[in-house]
Amino acid sequence: MKLRTIDGLDLRGKYVLLRDDFNVQIVDGQITDAFRIEQSMPTINKLRAAGARVAIVAHRGRPKGTRNMEYTLQPIADYMGVQLIPDCLDKDFLGQMRDGDLVLLENVRFYAGEEQNDPVFAAELARGFDVFVNDAFAVSHRAHASTVGVAEYLPAYAGDLLASEIEHLSAVMENPKRPLLSIVAGSKVSTKIGVLKALAKLSDTLIIGGALGTTFNYAQGGKVGNSLFEADQKDTALEILEYAAANDCRVLLPLDKGVAKVFERDAVRENKDFTEIEEDDVIIDAGEQTTERDTAAIRDAATVIWNGTVGMAEWMPTWSYGSFALARTIAEQTRAGKLESIVGGGDTVAALEACGVKGDITYVSTGGGAFLEFIEGRTLPAIVILEEK
Ligand code: 3PG
Repeated sequence: MKLRTIDGLDLRGKYVLLRDDFNVQIVDGQITDAFRIEQSMPTINKLRAAGARVAIVAHRGRPKGTRNMEYTLQPIADYMGVQLIPDCLDKDFLGQMRDGDLVLLENVRFYAGEEQNDPVFAAELARGFDVFVNDAFAVSHRAHASTVGVAEYLPAYAGDLLASEIEHLSAVMENPKRPLLSIVAGSKVSTKIGVLKALAKLSDTLIIGGALGTTFNYAQGGKVGNSLFEADQKDTALEILEYAAANDCRVLLPLDKGVAKVFERDAVRENKDFTEIEEDDVIIDAGEQTTERDTAAIRDAATVIWNGTVGMAEWMPTWSYGSFALARTIAEQTRAGKLESIVGGGDTVAALEACGVKGDITYVSTGGGAFLEFIEGRTLPAIVILEEK
């Protein structure tokens, strides 16, 4: 896939509407993970250095078309040290901008027209600008006014982050070094059916962990106690296992588990084989034997694609054991030049960060849902419109 990029454009004095994904976690007004913002900075700096007058359009949360200040972008403007324009449809500031200036527009999802991809709203958003640059890979699976609609009214280009995401993810999907190991975990089978099938087709080995793995254990008649899992996804789980077998993909499901009597950070941990799980046990992490087997699989792989933590990785140190072991082994192997590693998804990237190995990974995607949909092979609406014809 070849995208129209900003390279070679003459942007001096041009008004650029730049779409970024700043949907970051903010607790008590403080940004807890600025990864998406940091990854967006090179394109922002490049546009400014080229003399463009840049207004960033972005969203935060799901305010559902209302001006709910719980979702203001003010903390992001503060973090970046830029002016926040309180209404994304305001145009008055444009006349005061000089070459290289940067502003941030308030949450575009304060307008219902954004998620509806309303053409009237998109035209108004685009008004006053010369060029649209989309650098928001993480929201490229949404056909919204600020990701798709504005391109009807402005020449549209991919920013460097978006182009780099597509380049790295396409490379691993089209021509992975083998053996390819995929690790998919997290909570819901229902949201990951597509990606599980796509990876079962592509991979030599597929590890299914976390609550997702619990659903697969249940589907096979295993004991799951009082844990989080989806009983109604039993048939889907069995179908995915058949599909993997038909595609010569070895599937590794959880063996033993880290369990407790309550689903709490400070709960007492016990390691149990899944045949020993009692009615009142709650599975919160991968067990020791499972972790040993899975880290050995990582050592045998030439490529790893990882999405989803295998336990409550944020409940350190008791329940981060399984996820951190995977993260550290992937990092070690990558550092040693033996592995290409691709990681995506907010919780997974947070786990890499928490155990200090994010910098060792070959490619860390800013995408959550978009990462999964891309890997699944779906057409991302905000990306097709940037393809070079
Ligand atoms: C994300 O955080 O994955 C993107 O910003 C998309 O957010 P959404 O799921 O609310 O559309």
